[in-house]
Amino acid sequence: MVLRAIYPGTFDPITNGHLDIIERAAKIFDELIVAVATNPVKKPLFSLEERVLMIREACAHLPNVRVESFNGLLVEFARSLDARVIVKGLRAVSDFDYEFQMASMNRKLAPDIETVFIMTSLEYAYLSSSIIKEAAMLGGCVQGLVPHSVLPRLKEKLAERGCISHSGSRNSNTEPAQGT
Ligand code: PNS
Repeated sequence: MVLRAIYPGTFDPITNGHLDIIERAAKIFDELIVAVATNPVKKPLFSLEERVLMIREACAHLPNVRVESFNGLLVEFARSLDARVIVKGLRAVSDFDYEFQMASMNRKLAPDIETVFIMTSLEYAYLSSSIIKEAAMLGGCVQGLVPHSVLPRLKEKLAERGCISHSGSRNSNTEPAQGT
């Protein structure tokens, strides 16, 4: 029997913290599906297609990982793929309340699907997509915190929006990004 797991998120954009969880989960499960949520409520900086593409590039070295997008209920998407495990990363105590609530609701909706938590590596414990975007938008260097292919795309996107110049320095009248 193939042990298939699903790792959901908004990934706006994928960070090295996400990649660390993906690499570690890929060693535990036979197949791992990274499930990219549409999440229009969060008004992502990157389109769904861009987020999927960046994850595919970052995971190209992992043969048992594939990347799909979804909208609607996560547990229904997991069922449609015959995935019996949801993988989530836990960074700190502050993640716990939200993750406990999500895992409990998902369990109520689908008792046959189990949520498994992987503790983040300490070096990535402070990382989130939002803090990456905020730092980059304010002209900070985020090299080493996101996969290689994300860095130029992040700069390009923020320059397109007029937040930074094409060299990566901050335009003085910009506000930090919202969302994850
Ligand atoms: O990276 P994020 O933004 O923390 O990911 C959140 C995500 C996409 C995992 C979560 O919002 C989700 O599972 N959304 C799908 C809708 C759903 O099934 N919600 C839980 C039960 S109501």
